[in-house]
Amino acid sequence: MSLSTALQNKILLDAINMDLVSCFVNNKFDVIIFNPPYVVTESAECGGCGIEASWAGGIKGREIIDRLLDMIPKYLSPDGIFYLLLIKENIPTEVVQIMFKYGFKSETIITRQVRNEQQVVLKFYR
Ligand SMILES: C[S@@+](CC[C@H](N)C(=O)[O-])C[C@H]1O[C@@H](n2cnc3c(N)ncnc32)[C@H](O)[C@@H]1O
Repeated sequence: MSLSTALQNKILLDAINMDLVSCFVNNKFDVIIFNPPYVVTESAECGGCGIEASWAGGIKGREIIDRLLDMIPKYLSPDGIFYLLLIKENIPTEVVQIMFKYGFKSETIITRQVRNEQQVVLKFYR
């Protein structure tokens, strides 16, 4: 959640601007929530610092998402939970398989149609 969104909802939080979890070294988190840039775009559009960073997900819309998936085993605490918002074009079954290989079970929390997007929120845990 961005700092301004938090403030508008009267939620106090500390915000750190970084590439995924790159500022953390040995930290473990009990809950990780990611509303990622998931729109399918050209790879070149993905990974920048402009407004397009809020939507551009590159191939399958998964280029940023897959980078975080690789980091979850290290950063999620043993009893931790990782929530991830995806759309159909991200091929959620592939994401479930990737996380399964990392030793995570998964559950679908909600699926919903939002305008032209079929969204799904997945929950991952050991
Ligand atoms: C779909 S928006 C979600 C915005 C907000 N977090 C929310 O949930 O309403 C995706 C967010 O991911 C951020 N983002 C994109 N690439 C990132 C990266 N490599 N590391 C950290 N954040 C990134 C974007 O700047 C954008 O704020």
